[in-house]
Amino acid sequence: MAMIAARCPQYEVMVVDIDGERIGAWQTDALPIYEPGLLEVVKQARGRNLFFSTDIPAAIGGAEVIFVSVNTPTKTFGEGAGKAPNLEFWEKTARTIVGASSGDKIVVEKSTLPVRTAHAMERILNSNGKGIRFEVLSNPEFLSEGTAVRDLEQPDRVLIGSHETPAGLAARAVLVEIYANWVPRERIVTSNVWSAELSKLASNAFLAQRVSSINSISALCERTTADVTEVSRAIGLDSRIGKRFLEASVGFGGSCFKKDILNLVYLCESYGLDEVARYWESVVLMNEYQKGRFVHTMVHAMFDTVSGKRIALLGFAFKKDTADTRESAAAVVARKLLEERAIVVVSDPKAIANARRDLADAPAGRVVFEEDPYAAARGAHAIAVLTEWDAYRLLDYRRMFDAMEKPAFVFDGRNILDHEALHAIGFNVFPVGKPPLKHF
Ligand code: UGA
Repeated sequence: MAMIAARCPQYEVMVVDIDGERIGAWQTDALPIYEPGLLEVVKQARGRNLFFSTDIPAAIGGAEVIFVSVNTPTKTFGEGAGKAPNLEFWEKTARTIVGASSGDKIVVEKSTLPVRTAHAMERILNSNGKGIRFEVLSNPEFLSEGTAVRDLEQPDRVLIGSHETPAGLAARAVLVEIYANWVPRERIVTSNVWSAELSKLASNAFLAQRVSSINSISALCERTTADVTEVSRAIGLDSRIGKRFLEASVGFGGSCFKKDILNLVYLCESYGLDEVARYWESVVLMNEYQKGRFVHTMVHAMFDTVSGKRIALLGFAFKKDTADTRESAAAVVARKLLEERAIVVVSDPKAIANARRDLADAPAGRVVFEEDPYAAARGAHAIAVLTEWDAYRLLDYRRMFDAMEKPAFVFDGRNILDHEALHAIGFNVFPVGKPPLKHF
């Protein structure tokens, strides 16, 4: 919304939320999320044509187009628990929109939702008894955290799904017009509503599948003398495959991949497509395997016990340049190490506050939070790199080595460090998908 406001001064954008604290924070320089470049974009428009409020009915009443981007977490109860999305917030929002509207409106589905949700919402919206007509569009968001501003400025594509009726096409044209203020027309793709909804789930499933595919190969590389970086480079140079999203890691995280694949799995199951469901589910299972495998390697390398050993985790965010820790592989690694009775030291340049919340139930005294990586490594038996923060490439590993217990280990869950150099310092180095460099 900030990008729309910044690029289109002729529109008035009102952002509303039930959370007053967040709405307050959006009006300061301490935004409620960390995203490089976002504050600059917000500042361009804030107070000019970008406003924040908790008065939801007033904002609905005054709007011609309403973007709905409420959260759709995985259901934790009832039918579809653990897989299906919880649509409670979406439905409540639809009912709020009906209640506060007195004229026709376009409602844009921005949250990632399973296929045919727009249809259900339309039924709620259009059975309003006030004679108001709502046109529902699907406009899934493809930005990635950490690069959101660039992704919004220069998107690969903007996808707009609508009904192919005269009213649907007219609504679609309104939304195309908004994006056309800065996105080249050929990148604004239109489709029917269901295709748009499915494209979003399928895009994330394909991306996650690439990571799981290369991670599956990383397991094989570790058993042989193949090197996953070399394999990745060799296959990525095939232009049909392409090189992005082929970096082996401790496992993918984030609020989207797992949730969206499970949505897809649930969708397939509910259409009786069990083979298709199992196929996509295996992408998630491979990811669970990769996280478990990483911890197994750590424990096994450290003489089959980490009990009472201090282990420094470098990075807790699910990827660099974000404070987001949702579904982060680091949280799984931390928990598994705690089960093994290690002392876990969590370090991260931006995500310490979230890490504290995520690990609030950890046994007392067994988790330590240290923003400073040198302090984290002091007295540790091992360092595990779990987030690919650029700063971690530049640390003084000699200094860290000197302050650690011996033998000292590095487990590079992101393959971002100079393994030969670390080995020369004296570390036993365990990358992902490459032979370890050991001194014993
Ligand atoms: C993802 C998609 O990339 C976006 O297009 C989509 O809009 C978004 O989900 C969403 O549905 O909202 P995001 O979750 O922000 O974006 O992060 P990604 O950059 O996709 O990374 C996901 C995870 O995969 C991270 O943990 C990352 O470290 C990991 N990853 C990525 C790898 O392990 N290896 C790779 O080669 C690439």
